[in-house]
Amino acid sequence: MIKHCLFPAAGYGTRFLPATKSMPKEMMPIVNKPLIEYGVDEAIQAGMTNMAIVTGRGKNSLMDHFDKNYELEHQISGTNKEEMLVDIRSLIDSAQFTYIRQREMKGLGHAILTGKQLIGDNPFAVVLADDLCVNETQGVLEQMVKLFKQFRCTIVAVEEVPNDETHKYGVIAGEHLSDDLIRVTDMVEKPEQGTAPSNLAIIGRYILTPDIFEHIENTEPGKGGEIQITDAILKQASNGCVIAYRFKGKRFDCGSWMGISMRQITAMKTYT
Ligand code: G1P
Repeated sequence: MIKHCLFPAAGYGTRFLPATKSMPKEMMPIVNKPLIEYGVDEAIQAGMTNMAIVTGRGKNSLMDHFDKNYELEHQISGTNKEEMLVDIRSLIDSAQFTYIRQREMKGLGHAILTGKQLIGDNPFAVVLADDLCVNETQGVLEQMVKLFKQFRCTIVAVEEVPNDETHKYGVIAGEHLSDDLIRVTDMVEKPEQGTAPSNLAIIGRYILTPDIFEHIENTEPGKGGEIQITDAILKQASNGCVIAYRFKGKRFDCGSWMGISMRQITAMKTYT
């Protein structure tokens, strides 16, 4: 039912310099796969077939990755190396990839609005590839699609974070419907230390209804002078229903060296 998944991927990745001087941060490898491929895997597993990627200058390798490489494939054809391309070939065959370039970096809300033409009037998922989520039985997006079928409104994934880390995230508050589900009444983007409405932080998985685009268009720049998706979702919450979901699984913050290294170590343990 949800076929589109949007990947905002235009950022400069300055936290990873110099590695990201000429390589998109989304292409940083976790063992043998680039970060963004894990997000695409998760979307495909959740039944999505249209991957809409918001790119920027210097990000062409993202497009090349989700395409054939005839020269390379010809070179390794018939050798035992061919096997290493089996997964990516099947991923490319399972989905359609479309791209749009974000010319200016004006915040996550602006990045999502840039993808509007690729999404149309459909509910869609958003994956921030930096947040790598793993769960053995059911991916986080798949869990969220199930909830969307039930609530038919915007769903945001949240997790509890220590109180001294709430300032790094969008933070929600609301009415608990169950242990895992909260009807959102408040959301603050990166609250100042000690002012967060709770310790439930939004992580990079969203399912958004298409009216979000109009809300973003009417959202003034917020935290850091940027157009924040958190502010636009709060408008949806005050007009109707937004559900926050404490997902099952583990998130690695691959927007930081610590998170990416932790994921490398745990993945290597499984791989070896
Ligand atoms: C973005 C969102 C924030 C969310 C976070 C999750 O922030 O603006 O609300 O909690 O992603 O990773 P960023 O990390 O891009 O600054």
